Amino acid sequence: MSRIFKSILSQSFFILSLTVASAGQSRAQTITIPIETAHNAVVLQADENKNLKNIFLGKKLSDAHEYDFIKGVYKQAEDYSGLLNSAYTPSGSRNLVEPAISVIHADGNMSLDLRYVSHKSIHLNDNVSLFTVLLKDPVYNFEVTLYYKSYYKEDVIEQWNVIKHHEKDNITLQKFASANLYLKAQSYWLTQFHGDWAKEMQPEESRLTHGIKTLDTKLGTRANLFMPSVFMISLDKPASEDEGNILYGALEWSGNFKIDFELDFQDNLRIIAGMNNYASPYILKPGEEFATPPFLYTFSDKGKGDASRKLQSWARNYKLLDGKGNRLTLLNNWESTFFDFNEKKLGELLKDTKKLGVDLFLLDDGWFGNKNPRNDDHAGLGDWQENRKKLPNGITSLVKEADANGVKFGIWIEPEMVNPKSDLYTKHPDWVVKQPNRAEYYFRNQLVLDLSNPKVQDFVYDIVDSLFIKAPSLAYIKWDCNAVIYNAYSVHLKNNQSQFYVEYVRGLYKVLERIRAKYPTVPLMLCSGGGGRVDYGALQYFTEFWPSDNTDPLERIFIQWDYSYFYPSIASSNHVTDWGKQPIKFRTDVAMMGKLGFDIVVSELKANDLKFCQDAVKAYDTLKQVIWQGDQYRLVNPHEQNMASLMYVDSTQSTAVMFNYLVNYRYGESSKTPIQLKGLNKNKKYLLEEINLYPDTKSALKNERIFSGDFLMNIGFNPEVNTNRTSVIVKITDIK
Ligand code: DGJ
Repeated sequence: MSRIFKSILSQSFFILSLTVASAGQSRAQTITIPIETAHNAVVLQADENKNLKNIFLGKKLSDAHEYDFIKGVYKQAEDYSGLLNSAYTPSGSRNLVEPAISVIHADGNMSLDLRYVSHKSIHLNDNVSLFTVLLKDPVYNFEVTLYYKSYYKEDVIEQWNVIKHHEKDNITLQKFASANLYLKAQSYWLTQFHGDWAKEMQPEESRLTHGIKTLDTKLGTRANLFMPSVFMISLDKPASEDEGNILYGALEWSGNFKIDFELDFQDNLRIIAGMNNYASPYILKPGEEFATPPFLYTFSDKGKGDASRKLQSWARNYKLLDGKGNRLTLLNNWESTFFDFNEKKLGELLKDTKKLGVDLFLLDDGWFGNKNPRNDDHAGLGDWQENRKKLPNGITSLVKEADANGVKFGIWIEPEMVNPKSDLYTKHPDWVVKQPNRAEYYFRNQLVLDLSNPKVQDFVYDIVDSLFIKAPSLAYIKWDCNAVIYNAYSVHLKNNQSQFYVEYVRGLYKVLERIRAKYPTVPLMLCSGGGGRVDYGALQYFTEFWPSDNTDPLERIFIQWDYSYFYPSIASSNHVTDWGKQPIKFRTDVAMMGKLGFDIVVSELKANDLKFCQDAVKAYDTLKQVIWQGDQYRLVNPHEQNMASLMYVDSTQSTAVMFNYLVNYRYGESSKTPIQLKGLNKNKKYLLEEINLYPDTKSALKNERIFSGDFLMNIGFNPEVNTNRTSVIVKITDIK
């Protein structure tokens, strides 16, 4: 039983409540800290003993003072430790479950207790606030500050911690999660993603059972090859596109991560997410700060679509580099030439770039290395000098030639890597990640450079910097990362080997920071042998990512669909290639649902195919703003039906574009029923036109194509997709 009185302190918006524990016990204060966004709240509470607890995460209440009653209405027994819903679970004291942090103190003791000391909040601007809560161990001079950065409009929270101590000597951090959440529901449904090369983002949904389910990676670089850190948790039942309570989460970290989902003995879900502590005990000196990367999450009570739109808009507004800016359409030469090109061939490709009508030519792998020329993937990585045979006049002359052709020029690099057959490897074997006393083991015939070493950081920075110094109008960089880390060992880290995985990623970010300080907006594509490294830690430095080397458009519909839950279309580099059996129209239509590019032999296109592509580039130009910045609605799920349908609607609900594809080519398959559109204004009238038609074909859509938003969203519209019309794009414009 408790009697509560409250006081809201202006800025920090926290509630002090006086709790009478029970007769005979002394009065003690609890402190409730609601962190609210437009629709949601995360509520922390320091109990009478100053244990900081998660008491709520979900749709916010209209009266914030009522959060205090939540505990009382759940009739749950004592949890033996008083720590089950800890906001940051320490280990070695009373804790009985998975900890968020564990430590070996300077005296060798392994117990930790963390108690609330103070908290504050700062409004960084109208939309963004930063809450901090300081926790201290009553016995050891050890503290953790929890950070909660809230984005009000987007309902997104980023959570991280800074760990610090003033013990007599170094301590060892054995676990150091970024966030420790706590959810209450009848059941929990996890949607996770797995994959491999050319099979990125394969979804799987399962009901969580008691115990711990872990999502993690130990690959070091190319960390998402088998698994990204993005996930969804649906509460009570699997959420659908427009219905259900759902939490989306992801770690902003480009290295090893670990996310534990522990369904505890009281049937609540504990989520502990952070860098992976695998092989990574971290030595922390007195006074030194250890900052964990942010873990981000959003919650929706309206299903997956709403959660996605919030995350996509947060990414464009705050995280993705230049998320509101422009992007360049391009022609890439990887699939058309591989390593086999010279100046003459590239000269022709520059002309083709112009002919196609795209903005930029992107020169891929194979342009460097002399003693060990990069003529295949066995040699040359690390030697970033133009190959004199292929490019006797160097990059500068290619950039000039591009300019003369009226197109921009971009270039591929893989600066974190080295082939053993390279000058770099011979000169700096100590820069290479490998065990001193074991045989080397390769991934794509290459090894990883030790980015924990500041000299290697300088080297990698200089690769980029010298390209821009040499060719200031260089307009684009594709940054690849094809190898994972085997035999993790850093000469530079000497006796601190267990810090390698953490320091590698920190080193990478230091380089990217420096690049962005000097070249703030030049487009950089985040590539990793396909989508082996796609995360918001990296995307704050990159303008776009390469989802997969699999560009078969049928496969891409699925891959792009699944990325779209977490990432906005402006970040997704989609190239038209010769993968797959679909016609050029299908391939192009699929690539248009993001950042359009081509990787085909333009000179070999049939006249009508070329004309189609040229017209498509022009059409894309008129639609790209709504695709990039509009709200995305997933209409028909290809995992469930014979079709995929998606649409993008601009913020004024005046223009929209709907993409429809047949994904099952069996006899008679078609869009048999109308598809209900979403996100339009029900009171407006809209004109629907099929666009991107192949030359000399007519739309099968009827003439009567003006409908109210109300009609389109309730009854729907049939784009008439069938085996003869496998891909249909419909432009939707309001009529005044
Ligand atoms: C892997 C990338 O995903 C491809 O697009 C291409 O750039 C190759 N690397 C080049 O080696």
